[in-house]
Amino acid sequence: MDKLLITGGRPLAGDVRISGAKNAALPVLIASLLTADPLIIRNIPHLHDITTTLELLGELGVRLEIDEKMSITADAGDITRLRAPYDLVKTMRASILVLGPLLARFGEAEVSLPGGCAIGSRPVNLHIKGFEAMGAEVVIESGYIRARCKRLRGARIFMDTISVTGTENLMMAAALADGETVIENAAREPEVVDLATCLNAMGAKIHGAGTHLITIQGVNRLHGAAHNVIPDRIEAGTYLVAAMVTSGAIKLHDIDSSLLESVLDKLTESGADIKIEGRTISLDMRGRRPRAVNIRTAPFPAFPTDMQAQFVMMNSIAEGVGTVTETVFENRFMHVHELQRMGADIDMESNTAVVRGVDHLTGAPVMATDLRASACLVLAGLVARNETIIDRIYHIDRGYDCIEEKLAQIGAQIRRVPGDQMEARTAVA
Ligand code: EPZ
Repeated sequence: MDKLLITGGRPLAGDVRISGAKNAALPVLIASLLTADPLIIRNIPHLHDITTTLELLGELGVRLEIDEKMSITADAGDITRLRAPYDLVKTMRASILVLGPLLARFGEAEVSLPGGCAIGSRPVNLHIKGFEAMGAEVVIESGYIRARCKRLRGARIFMDTISVTGTENLMMAAALADGETVIENAAREPEVVDLATCLNAMGAKIHGAGTHLITIQGVNRLHGAAHNVIPDRIEAGTYLVAAMVTSGAIKLHDIDSSLLESVLDKLTESGADIKIEGRTISLDMRGRRPRAVNIRTAPFPAFPTDMQAQFVMMNSIAEGVGTVTETVFENRFMHVHELQRMGADIDMESNTAVVRGVDHLTGAPVMATDLRASACLVLAGLVARNETIIDRIYHIDRGYDCIEEKLAQIGAQIRRVPGDQMEARTAVA
């Protein structure tokens, strides 16, 4: 398994272009299943989860063309299968998003139950409850969700818990249902809004995306369109924290600051000097140490759970004591143990990490456990003394486009080492 080797201690400085958002690109690519016409999607990031999604769409019979700028034309004119197999779904939970479009357009779908993952049990009961409210018959057997319905009908659906992909799945299904669907307590994430924008360009009639009440007037068919995926607010936040913890200065390009206001607010509170000019964000922290901040994650527009691990890491070398409370997932603190091995002073109190800033972290061999925890360990390696070796970096390749190239171009000492070379290196040592 490849590893990342990082030697810390250098302030980062320079410019970074932010890629398209993983969590917007995935549902938009899957929305191609809703029409027999080609859907053109631009600003797609180079990520392993994108590759997995393309494999899944190909498995269902979608014809895909990819150009050198990672614009993708997806043509679902000849769908041959209505089944998303376990070996693909187990590697990417977002595969559950094919259920709504297949059920809405073809009247049936079979998708492997995603199962849990490192950060929590991740049930899909709200997706299923919504499809049943729209008239689908849903059976779960042998690890698969089997859904059938001649034609979905509009319904009023209350989401007991705010769910991003739950809202997206039901919104796609409702786009082709007979009548009006209202989704109450809907997720307000920018990626939900981006999907609604794409669906409306395809002829859907969706109002209220970005609020807790989304209304969808079903139509008989959708047509092709062209859509540019929004920038990745979590990638942007991660690079801003990288500049913070190394007391550097960074300028992000192709980013819309309204996507991450809660994060910018906390970085300012921590002492960052932030300038927003059009589609750029500049952060200057040269010569200064971050001040600890208190964080409580919650659905958008509150502080995003996908930035929680990065802020635990920032607090671990900040001035003072900061608390970080995770309210979205039940097991999203696995990065804490790894940070403690690097010298961080963190106590866990139920779903809150109490972080006392230390003077420095020390590099060590650490292991990535999930996507955002691995980003946090990269940040720790950038600021720690000596060398940090991060194992299982396939987690990071799922969600960060060319991370070592982007970090190296702003001064980081980071390189990827193929697993077998590491074994040889260790053997010599
Ligand atoms: C999306 O996951 C994102 N993934 C996650 O990003 C993100 O952390 C999460 O939203 C929260 O913002 C994609 O968009 C592909 P949820 P999702 O349904 O939709 C519970 C990353 O790092 N729930 O909003 O799967 C669930 O257990 C990833 O990029 C139910 O109980 O998350 C959780 O506690 C990680 N029943 C809460 O809701 C359901 O049917 C929020 O989950 C669905 C969810």
